[in-house]
Amino acid sequence: MPIASAELRATCAAIQRVFPGAFAQVIEEGGHAADVLVHSAHDLALVLPNHAQVPAIIHCGELRLRTAGTPEELVAAQPARTIGVLSGRVAVVSGAVSGLGLGVARGLHAAGACVLFTDVDVAELAAVEATLADPVRVATAVVDVTREDSVIAGFDAALRRFGRVDLIACCAGVAPAYDLVDFPLDKFRLANEINLTGYFLYGREAARIMKAQGHGGSMVLLSSKSGLEPSKANTAYNATKAGELHMARGWALELGRDGIRVNCIAPGNVFEGSKIWNPDYIAKAAQKKGITPAEVIPFYVGLTALNREIKPQDIADAAVFLASDQARCITGQVLVVDAGQVWTR
Ligand SMILES: NC(=O)c1ccc[n+]([C@@H]2O[C@H](COP(=O)([O-])OP(=O)(O)OC[C@H]3O[C@@H](n4cnc5c(N)ncnc54)[C@H](O)[C@@H]3O)[C@@H](O)[C@H]2O)c1
Repeated sequence: MPIASAELRATCAAIQRVFPGAFAQVIEEGGHAADVLVHSAHDLALVLPNHAQVPAIIHCGELRLRTAGTPEELVAAQPARTIGVLSGRVAVVSGAVSGLGLGVARGLHAAGACVLFTDVDVAELAAVEATLADPVRVATAVVDVTREDSVIAGFDAALRRFGRVDLIACCAGVAPAYDLVDFPLDKFRLANEINLTGYFLYGREAARIMKAQGHGGSMVLLSSKSGLEPSKANTAYNATKAGELHMARGWALELGRDGIRVNCIAPGNVFEGSKIWNPDYIAKAAQKKGITPAEVIPFYVGLTALNREIKPQDIADAAVFLASDQARCITGQVLVVDAGQVWTR
């Protein structure tokens, strides 16, 4: 007994009327309206089957209102209810196919958020989408963070696909390493464009959308321990990572009255999956320290108080916390995730 699209849209409207905090969306599959997907109101999952005049099943912390099936069949099919701290939220992540950005985007998704993975790497975006295989809560968009039109188009894609934006994580970054006297101007400018202009464009677009939506939001900017304590032969990285911290503090001040929180994470050295730590970069680090490339990771791990290698998952856990309501009174902060290496805050 298929329900026509107009009826699905009427269902959405009815849900929004009864639960103003919810967000209901018609899902199109194969050109047909197939389901209504409800994000946001956790208590809705408990009461909706009694309120709405349609059968419902619970799916990954969201409700999908089925277009067919008897209530008995649907009750029998009802899976275990899994709700993460970010269920019903929509996140946009930059630099989301490699290293820390991929870890953060996956972490937000695992915590229940709908996530738009954005990056310039078209092939890796397709690979990530295929690996995660969750067409309900995962989408991708090719975005160059240095281009205003590209960033605006990326946020438009998030709004078209998920209907809102609640969270952003800025992760796209580069770290050209040269001694000051040899530092090429074009590399310095590129680092500024990606690390500073890119974060600025994401923050500005998100702020515009979040202010218009009127229900707050959370921004997490990946800075670095190098934003707090400089590293050698890293002029552009030191400057831009410090700039991100202060840009975030200013945004926290400016956007607080709109319920928008802005925080930074300052990771220590994270090797797993990182293209910054490519063989060339490791060779330069080895040269700087007078060790072999194979000794680089143990060397940096040995600098930490915990003597522990930091993984993308450690950064993802911090990002999920800062994005979640558990951090509701935290804004303008820098969370240092470095296993104990720098002591400046
Ligand atoms: N790896 C570390 O040790 C470490 C430590 C502290 C902070 N960080 C920060 O974490 C972030 C990610 O670092 P990573 O080591 O995972 O790097 P990475 O090189 O593995 O990932 C960076 C991603 O950004 C994307 N990107 C580059 N230019 C872009 C552009 N113009 N538009 C859109 N996307 C673009 C790349 O395609 C890539 O997917 C950076 O901001 C970095 O400063 C990394």
